[in-house]
Amino acid sequence: MFASLFKLALPLAVLAAQAPTFEPAAATPESNSTDYVGQSNGTLSNSPLVPGKAFDRVIQIWLENTDYDDAASSSVFKSLGEQGITLTQYYAVTHPSEPNYVAVVGGDFWGMADDNLYNIPSNISTVVDLLDAKNISWASYQENMPTDGFQGFNYTSENYLNSSAPPYTYYVRKHNPLVIYDSVANVPSRLARHRNFNDFAADLNASAIPQWLFVTPNLVDDAHDTTIDFASDWLNFWLVPLLKDSNFNDNRTLIILTFDETETYTINNRVLTILLGGAIPENLKNTTDETYYSHYSCLSTVEANWGLGSLGRGDTNKTMSNVFSFVANATGYKNLDITGDAIPLTNATGTIPGPLNPELYVPFLAPNTTAVGAGGGSVFISNTTNTNLTSASAPAPVNLTASGSSVPASGPDPTSTSPSGSSSGGSSSGGGSGSSSGAIPGAKVAGGMIFGAVGAVVGAFLVL
Ligand SMILES: *[C@@H]1O[C@H](CO)[C@@H](O)[C@H](O)[C@H]1NC(C)=O
Ligand SMILES: *[C@@H]1O[C@H](CO)[C@@H](O)[C@H](O)[C@H]1NC(C)=O
Ligand SMILES: *[C@@H]1O[C@H](CO)[C@@H](O)[C@H](O)[C@H]1NC(C)=O
Ligand SMILES: *[C@@H]1O[C@H](CO)[C@@H](O)[C@H](O)[C@H]1NC(C)=O
Ligand SMILES: *[C@@H]1O[C@H](CO)[C@@H](O)[C@H](O)[C@H]1NC(C)=O
Ligand SMILES: *[C@@H]1O[C@H](CO)[C@@H](O)[C@H](O)[C@H]1NC(C)=O
Ligand SMILES: *[C@@H]1O[C@H](CO)[C@@H](O)[C@H](O)[C@H]1NC(C)=O
Ligand SMILES: *[C@@H]1O[C@H](CO)[C@@H](O)[C@H](O)[C@H]1NC(C)=O
Ligand SMILES: *[C@@H]1O[C@H](CO)[C@@H](O)[C@H](O)[C@H]1NC(C)=O
Ligand SMILES: *[C@@H]1O[C@H](CO)[C@@H](O)[C@H](O)[C@H]1NC(C)=O
Ligand SMILES: *[C@@H]1O[C@H](CO)[C@@H](O)[C@H](O)[C@H]1NC(C)=O
Ligand SMILES: *[C@@H]1O[C@H](CO)[C@@H](O)[C@H](O)[C@H]1NC(C)=O
Repeated sequence: MFASLFKLALPLAVLAAQAPTFEPAAATPESNSTDYVGQSNGTLSNSPLVPGKAFDRVIQIWLENTDYDDAASSSVFKSLGEQGITLTQYYAVTHPSEPNYVAVVGGDFWGMADDNLYNIPSNISTVVDLLDAKNISWASYQENMPTDGFQGFNYTSENYLNSSAPPYTYYVRKHNPLVIYDSVANVPSRLARHRNFNDFAADLNASAIPQWLFVTPNLVDDAHDTTIDFASDWLNFWLVPLLKDSNFNDNRTLIILTFDETETYTINNRVLTILLGGAIPENLKNTTDETYYSHYSCLSTVEANWGLGSLGRGDTNKTMSNVFSFVANATGYKNLDITGDAIPLTNATGTIPGPLNPELYVPFLAPNTTAVGAGGGSVFISNTTNTNLTSASAPAPVNLTASGSSVPASGPDPTSTSPSGSSSGGSSSGGGSGSSSGAIPGAKVAGGMIFGAVGAVVGAFLVL
């Protein structure tokens, strides 16, 4: 009561400037909560464990938009660094956020230079194709995603940091990488592996956490809407205790804690990355590793560990896909020594042609079918890939924006009930768990409408 009276007495400008204070959405990282929105949907059923050469489980946790030095100055990063390996030369691949997320699961960011809604066509492969080929279980855990397999652009729910404030958009699709790929989203069994944090609690307590995980904290916990201090409080609440939970971290678990990109675009895209978990060899704890890595190293490391095939994209680009050195040692993979000016500048935005770049549009090309990745297996080729359309045979980039069109893979929010092109009505508020599931089939209809609109311009490219 006194607190709220005091707040009312503050000038509005001061109130607006106040950074939110961290509050956990649940009592413990092992517990469920209505603040996570959708109820738990039962536990995940996984295929039997497939042993890897250096680890049996990899957990990727992505925070947002923080320069290396800002992250390094946070005390939780210092103490986590003492328990693991600090990677001092790990780089994001572009700006802004979404292209980095699609890159870490697909090996390319397709020229994307924004955070818009995309549906990447169903013949474009991802790490899921490589994992599924070897029956390695996986899941994407998304804090504040309302229902399993939710495909909406974002989701707004009750503001649990301030119950007198309006509902808040905690979940965004742009940070949920696999759902952006139709090769995942259009397969129901794959879509169901996109789970929220109530499912995480259920899976954890049932000892059902799979072998490959992507974990996205919500927009306040990942520092996107807040600060590195807020995200540090979340790490202290969520990750630090889970390190001691053997259902999460056992002596065969590798945890990759990193950031999607730097906050500053005018410096190269180096982000603080810490490797943690019981799979880290004892003698490497509290050490640094100066090897050059990029987000593609997360793919090549997984490929090397389980002897997988590859995607034939960034994951097989020798320069950009060094394997985390303790895994390279365990698997016999030879990294390249890339230092100083040889480190690629990956802080550009929008200058790379691709199927998701409307100003420099080229169609989706076949992967490099002769590439050999760190896992040694063959390049995954979808049975609907036109392997004739390669980087050698690709047409010159076209400026679709100049002719008033957008890329074929862009689409309106599938949760929106408004006509295509309108941006309103996309998010539901109030935290109901079932409110948007009925709209999901609309995604395909809406995608088709966009295809039709630009079909005349890009029809020649819709061959894949
Ligand atoms: C939390 O878990 C309990 C026990 O499994 C279940 O009854 C309850 O519905 C769950 N609540 C949420 C919000 O998922
Ligand atoms: C539970 O899973 C089913 C099938 O995957 C899905 O349709 C439903 O929306 C899910 N419910 C929640 C609350 O996540
Ligand atoms: C790893 O954990 C397993 C299961 O708890 C145990 O049997 C094994 O001895 C442990 N190995 C090491 C090297 O600690
Ligand atoms: C990228 O970083 C380099 C090195 O700091 C800088 O020289 C360059 O201007 C940056 N590029 C952009 C587009 O900001
Ligand atoms: C980590 O290493 C630093 C020096 O490199 C040392 O001061 C510190 O005590 C070490 N921490 C632990 C937990 O071993
Ligand atoms: C690999 O990546 C480097 C650095 O970004 C780039 O210069 C090179 O063209 C890429 N190689 C291929 C074959 O794409
Ligand atoms: C990898 O192996 C090399 C050569 O044996 C060794 O010098 C290096 O310390 C090892 N690195 C790691 C991270 O295990
Ligand atoms: C495809 O991979 C092969 C084998 O690694 C390599 O020699 C070739 O340069 C790659 N081609 C392209 C277009 O990246
Ligand atoms: C491609 O493979 C999928 C499943 O792997 C199958 O359902 C589909 O019929 C195949 N399509 C073609 C054109 O062969
Ligand atoms: C690819 O090229 C071969 C040889 O020119 C041709 O027979 C085949 O039909 C082409 N495939 C597609 C999907 O265009
Ligand atoms: C594409 O066209 C738009 C609109 O005419 C223009 O603003 C933009 O600079 C062009 N982009 C490129 C890369 O030429
Ligand atoms: C959420 O999506 C709607 C469109 O569906 C958009 O208007 C709004 O800006 C989005 N909000 C955030 C925070 O992404």
